[in-house]
Amino acid sequence: MRVLFIGDIVAKPGREILKKHLAVLKKEMNIDIVIANCENLAHGFGMTAKTIDEVILYGVDIITGGNHSWDKKEINPFYDSYNMLRPINFPDGVCGRGSLVFEKNLQKLAVVNLLGHYGMGMVENPFNMIEKEVQRLQNEGIKNIIIDFHAEATSEKNALLFMLKSKVSFIAGTHTHIGTDDLLIKDGTGYVSDVGLTGCMDGIIGMDIDAPIYRFKTGIKKNYDIPKKCKKIFQAIIIDIDGNGRCIDAKKIKAYDDQAPVITMESVRI
Ligand SMILES: [Fe+2]
Ligand SMILES: [Fe+2]
Repeated sequence: MRVLFIGDIVAKPGREILKKHLAVLKKEMNIDIVIANCENLAHGFGMTAKTIDEVILYGVDIITGGNHSWDKKEINPFYDSYNMLRPINFPDGVCGRGSLVFEKNLQKLAVVNLLGHYGMGMVENPFNMIEKEVQRLQNEGIKNIIIDFHAEATSEKNALLFMLKSKVSFIAGTHTHIGTDDLLIKDGTGYVSDVGLTGCMDGIIGMDIDAPIYRFKTGIKKNYDIPKKCKKIFQAIIIDIDGNGRCIDAKKIKAYDDQAPVITMESVRI
Protein backbone atom coordinates (compact mmCIF):
# COMPACT_ATOMS: atom_id res chain seq x y z
CA MET A 1 0.00 0.00 0.00
CA ARG A 2 1.32 3.43 -0.94
CA VAL A 3 -0.05 6.44 0.94
CA LEU A 4 0.58 10.13 0.38
CA PHE A 5 0.38 12.26 3.52
CA ILE A 6 0.11 16.00 2.90
CA GLY A 7 0.93 18.45 5.71
CA ASP A 8 -1.31 21.36 6.76
CA ILE A 9 -2.87 22.83 3.60
CA VAL A 10 -3.13 26.57 4.21
CA ALA A 11 -5.89 28.54 2.48
CA LYS A 12 -6.29 29.28 -1.22
CA PRO A 13 -2.56 29.19 -2.09
CA GLY A 14 -2.42 25.68 -0.57
CA ARG A 15 -5.48 24.55 -2.51
CA GLU A 16 -4.07 26.05 -5.72
CA ILE A 17 -0.76 24.20 -5.53
CA LEU A 18 -2.62 21.02 -4.57
CA LYS A 19 -4.70 21.36 -7.73
CA LYS A 20 -1.55 21.87 -9.76
CA HIS A 21 0.28 18.75 -8.58
CA LEU A 22 -1.87 16.15 -6.84
CA ALA A 23 -3.61 14.40 -9.76
CA VAL A 24 -0.36 13.96 -11.71
CA LEU A 25 1.55 12.89 -8.61
CA LYS A 26 -1.07 10.26 -7.72
CA LYS A 27 -0.86 8.77 -11.19
CA GLU A 28 2.90 8.94 -11.68
CA MET A 29 3.78 7.68 -8.18
CA ASN A 30 1.01 5.01 -8.02
CA ILE A 31 -0.50 6.47 -4.86
CA ASP A 32 -3.34 4.38 -3.41
CA ILE A 33 -4.66 6.69 -0.68
CA VAL A 34 -4.19 10.41 0.02
CA ILE A 35 -4.44 11.86 3.55
CA ALA A 36 -4.30 15.62 4.05
CA ASN A 37 -4.38 17.80 7.14
CA CYS A 38 -6.98 20.47 6.37
CA GLU A 39 -7.31 22.43 9.63
CA ASN A 40 -6.23 25.66 7.85
CA LEU A 41 -8.02 25.01 4.56
CA ALA A 42 -10.52 27.91 4.59
CA HIS A 43 -8.57 31.18 4.67
CA GLY A 44 -6.19 29.71 7.27
CA PHE A 45 -8.81 28.88 9.89
CA GLY A 46 -10.87 25.69 9.80
CA MET A 47 -12.67 24.33 6.79
CA THR A 48 -15.95 24.78 4.97
CA ALA A 49 -17.92 22.24 2.92
CA LYS A 50 -16.92 24.15 -0.23
CA THR A 51 -13.18 23.93 0.48
CA ILE A 52 -13.45 20.27 1.58
CA ASP A 53 -15.32 19.42 -1.65
CA GLU A 54 -12.58 21.21 -3.57
CA VAL A 55 -9.69 19.15 -2.14
CA ILE A 56 -11.68 15.91 -2.52
CA LEU A 57 -12.10 16.82 -6.19
CA TYR A 58 -8.30 17.23 -6.49
CA GLY A 59 -7.77 13.73 -5.06
CA VAL A 60 -7.72 13.84 -1.24
CA ASP A 61 -9.35 10.74 0.33
CA ILE A 62 -9.07 11.36 4.07
CA ILE A 63 -9.10 14.71 5.86
CA THR A 64 -7.49 15.28 9.27
CA GLY A 65 -7.63 18.30 11.54
CA GLY A 66 -6.20 19.82 14.68
CA ASN A 67 -6.59 22.76 17.03
CA HIS A 68 -8.24 24.75 14.19
CA SER A 69 -10.84 22.06 13.41
CA TRP A 70 -13.61 24.12 15.00
CA ASP A 71 -12.82 27.57 13.55
CA LYS A 72 -15.64 27.42 10.99
CA LYS A 73 -18.68 26.18 12.88
CA GLU A 74 -20.77 25.59 9.75
CA ILE A 75 -18.78 22.41 9.01
CA ASN A 76 -19.71 20.75 12.32
CA PRO A 77 -22.99 19.11 11.18
CA PHE A 78 -21.23 17.63 8.14
CA TYR A 79 -18.30 15.97 9.93
CA ASP A 80 -19.60 12.44 9.52
CA SER A 81 -20.65 12.84 5.90
CA TYR A 82 -16.98 13.06 4.86
CA ASN A 83 -13.98 10.82 5.54
CA MET A 84 -12.96 13.54 7.95
CA LEU A 85 -11.35 13.40 11.37
CA ARG A 86 -10.83 15.74 14.27
CA PRO A 87 -8.40 14.86 17.08
CA ILE A 88 -9.55 11.76 18.94
CA ASN A 89 -8.71 13.17 22.37
CA PHE A 90 -11.51 15.73 22.44
CA PRO A 91 -14.06 14.71 25.07
CA ASP A 92 -17.11 12.55 24.37
CA GLY A 93 -19.97 14.58 22.93
CA VAL A 94 -17.82 16.70 20.61
CA CYS A 95 -18.98 16.27 17.01
CA GLY A 96 -17.03 14.19 14.52
CA ARG A 97 -14.68 11.27 15.08
CA GLY A 98 -10.95 10.87 15.64
CA SER A 99 -10.37 7.53 13.97
CA LEU A 100 -11.62 5.82 10.83
CA VAL A 101 -10.89 2.76 8.74
CA PHE A 102 -10.65 3.41 5.01
CA GLU A 103 -10.89 0.55 2.55
CA LYS A 104 -9.40 0.51 -0.92
CA ASN A 105 -8.52 -2.37 -3.24
CA LEU A 106 -9.48 -4.85 -0.47
CA GLN A 107 -6.92 -3.27 1.88
CA LYS A 108 -7.80 -1.51 5.11
CA LEU A 109 -6.03 1.56 6.48
CA ALA A 110 -6.84 3.07 9.87
CA VAL A 111 -6.13 6.78 10.27
CA VAL A 112 -6.12 8.35 13.72
CA ASN A 113 -5.90 12.08 14.42
CA LEU A 114 -4.35 13.03 17.77
CA LEU A 115 -3.76 16.41 19.45
CA GLY A 116 -0.63 17.07 21.50
CA HIS A 117 -0.60 18.57 24.97
CA TYR A 118 1.99 21.38 25.00
CA GLY A 119 0.54 24.74 23.91
CA MET A 120 -2.83 23.22 23.06
CA GLY A 121 -6.25 23.49 24.69
CA MET A 122 -7.39 21.15 27.44
CA VAL A 123 -8.08 17.73 25.97
CA GLU A 124 -7.75 14.11 27.13
CA ASN A 125 -4.21 12.76 27.61
CA PRO A 126 -3.01 11.96 24.06
CA PHE A 127 -0.58 9.21 25.07
CA ASN A 128 -3.05 7.18 27.12
CA MET A 129 -5.80 7.65 24.57
CA ILE A 130 -3.76 6.60 21.53
CA GLU A 131 -2.49 3.50 23.33
CA LYS A 132 -6.07 2.35 23.85
CA GLU A 133 -7.10 3.22 20.29
CA VAL A 134 -4.18 1.34 18.70
CA GLN A 135 -5.01 -1.68 20.85
CA ARG A 136 -8.66 -1.47 19.80
CA LEU A 137 -7.74 -1.33 16.10
CA GLN A 138 -5.34 -4.24 16.46
CA ASN A 139 -8.04 -6.26 18.21
CA GLU A 140 -10.16 -5.66 15.11
CA GLY A 141 -7.37 -7.09 12.97
CA ILE A 142 -6.30 -3.75 11.45
CA LYS A 143 -2.59 -3.81 10.60
CA ASN A 144 -2.13 -0.58 8.64
CA ILE A 145 -2.34 2.37 11.02
CA ILE A 146 -1.28 5.97 10.34
CA ILE A 147 -1.41 8.64 13.03
CA ASP A 148 -1.56 12.37 12.35
CA PHE A 149 -0.02 13.69 15.58
CA HIS A 150 -0.94 17.35 15.61
CA ALA A 151 1.39 18.82 18.19
CA GLU A 152 3.66 21.76 18.93
CA ALA A 153 6.48 20.00 20.75
CA THR A 154 8.88 17.72 18.88
CA SER A 155 9.60 16.02 22.23
CA GLU A 156 5.98 14.80 22.43
CA LYS A 157 6.14 13.60 18.83
CA ASN A 158 9.42 11.80 19.49
CA ALA A 159 8.01 10.18 22.62
CA LEU A 160 5.07 8.85 20.65
CA LEU A 161 7.45 7.17 18.19
CA PHE A 162 9.23 5.30 20.97
CA MET A 163 5.93 4.41 22.62
CA LEU A 164 4.33 3.03 19.45
CA LYS A 165 7.29 1.75 17.40
CA SER A 166 6.45 -1.59 15.73
CA LYS A 167 2.76 -1.09 16.62
CA VAL A 168 1.74 1.43 13.95
CA SER A 169 2.78 2.02 10.33
CA PHE A 170 3.53 5.75 10.39
CA ILE A 171 3.40 8.76 12.71
CA ALA A 172 3.14 12.02 10.74
CA GLY A 173 3.66 15.19 12.75
CA THR A 174 1.60 18.23 11.76
CA HIS A 175 0.72 21.69 13.17
CA THR A 176 4.04 23.61 13.18
CA HIS A 177 3.89 24.08 9.37
CA ILE A 178 7.71 23.76 9.31
CA GLY A 179 8.93 20.54 7.71
CA THR A 180 11.63 18.67 9.65
CA ASP A 181 14.49 16.59 8.27
CA ASP A 182 14.14 13.57 10.59
CA LEU A 183 12.24 11.19 8.32
CA LEU A 184 13.03 7.69 9.63
CA ILE A 185 11.84 4.13 10.09
CA LYS A 186 12.23 2.41 13.44
CA ASP A 187 11.12 -1.19 13.94
CA GLY A 188 8.64 -0.95 11.07
CA THR A 189 7.20 2.42 12.13
CA GLY A 190 7.83 5.42 9.88
CA TYR A 191 8.09 8.85 11.47
CA VAL A 192 8.60 12.53 10.77
CA SER A 193 8.30 15.28 13.40
CA ASP A 194 6.52 17.58 10.96
CA VAL A 195 5.53 17.19 7.31
CA GLY A 196 5.45 20.97 6.77
CA LEU A 197 2.80 23.16 5.20
CA THR A 198 1.34 23.25 1.72
CA GLY A 199 0.66 26.89 0.90
CA CYS A 200 2.61 30.17 0.93
CA MET A 201 6.28 29.60 1.59
CA ASP A 202 7.26 33.27 1.85
CA GLY A 203 4.79 34.09 4.62
CA ILE A 204 5.00 33.22 8.32
CA ILE A 205 3.69 29.65 8.57
CA GLY A 206 1.66 30.39 5.44
CA MET A 207 0.16 33.68 6.65
CA ASP A 208 0.82 37.31 5.78
CA ILE A 209 3.83 38.55 7.80
CA ASP A 210 2.40 41.81 9.22
CA ALA A 211 0.09 40.47 11.96
CA PRO A 212 2.52 37.91 13.42
CA ILE A 213 5.44 40.39 13.52
CA TYR A 214 3.20 43.03 15.12
CA ARG A 215 2.06 40.46 17.67
CA PHE A 216 5.60 39.36 18.52
CA LYS A 217 6.79 42.96 18.87
CA THR A 218 3.84 44.24 20.91
CA GLY A 219 2.11 41.22 22.43
CA ILE A 220 -1.14 42.41 20.82
CA LYS A 221 -3.09 40.10 18.51
CA LYS A 222 -4.23 41.31 15.09
CA ASN A 223 -6.31 39.44 12.52
CA TYR A 224 -4.15 37.08 10.50
CA ASP A 225 -4.54 37.19 6.73
CA ILE A 226 -3.36 35.23 3.70
CA PRO A 227 -0.83 36.93 1.38
CA LYS A 228 -2.42 38.18 -1.84
CA LYS A 229 0.55 36.92 -3.82
CA CYS A 230 3.23 34.46 -2.75
CA LYS A 231 5.59 31.69 -3.70
CA LYS A 232 3.91 28.35 -3.00
CA ILE A 233 5.18 25.06 -1.69
CA PHE A 234 3.67 21.56 -1.69
CA GLN A 235 5.03 19.17 0.96
CA ALA A 236 4.10 15.54 1.53
CA ILE A 237 5.43 12.15 2.57
CA ILE A 238 5.10 9.05 0.38
CA ILE A 239 4.63 6.07 2.71
CA ASP A 240 5.03 2.43 1.62
CA ILE A 241 3.47 -0.16 3.91
CA ASP A 242 3.89 -3.93 3.51
CA GLY A 243 1.17 -6.58 4.00
CA ASN A 244 1.85 -6.71 7.73
CA GLY A 245 1.38 -3.01 8.44
CA ARG A 246 5.11 -2.27 8.57
CA CYS A 247 6.53 0.84 6.93
CA ILE A 248 9.13 -0.34 4.42
CA ASP A 249 9.97 2.99 2.81
CA ALA A 250 9.16 6.69 3.17
CA LYS A 251 10.17 9.68 1.09
CA LYS A 252 9.65 13.43 1.42
CA ILE A 253 8.36 15.11 -1.70
CA LYS A 254 8.23 18.84 -2.44
CA ALA A 255 7.06 21.03 -5.29
CA TYR A 256 7.44 24.77 -5.71
CA ASP A 257 4.91 26.74 -7.77
CA ASP A 258 5.05 25.34 -11.32
CA GLN A 259 8.14 23.14 -10.83
CA ALA A 260 7.51 19.40 -10.96
CA PRO A 261 7.57 17.58 -7.58
CA VAL A 262 10.95 16.20 -6.49
CA ILE A 263 11.97 13.77 -3.78
CA THR A 264 14.00 15.77 -1.27
CA MET A 265 14.59 13.24 1.51
CA GLU A 266 14.79 9.47 1.89
CA SER A 267 13.97 7.79 5.19
CA VAL A 268 16.79 6.46 7.32
CA ARG A 269 16.48 3.23 9.34
CA ILE A 270 17.46 3.53 12.98
FE1 LIG B 1 -1.96 24.05 10.85
FE1 LIG C 1 -2.62 23.34 14.29
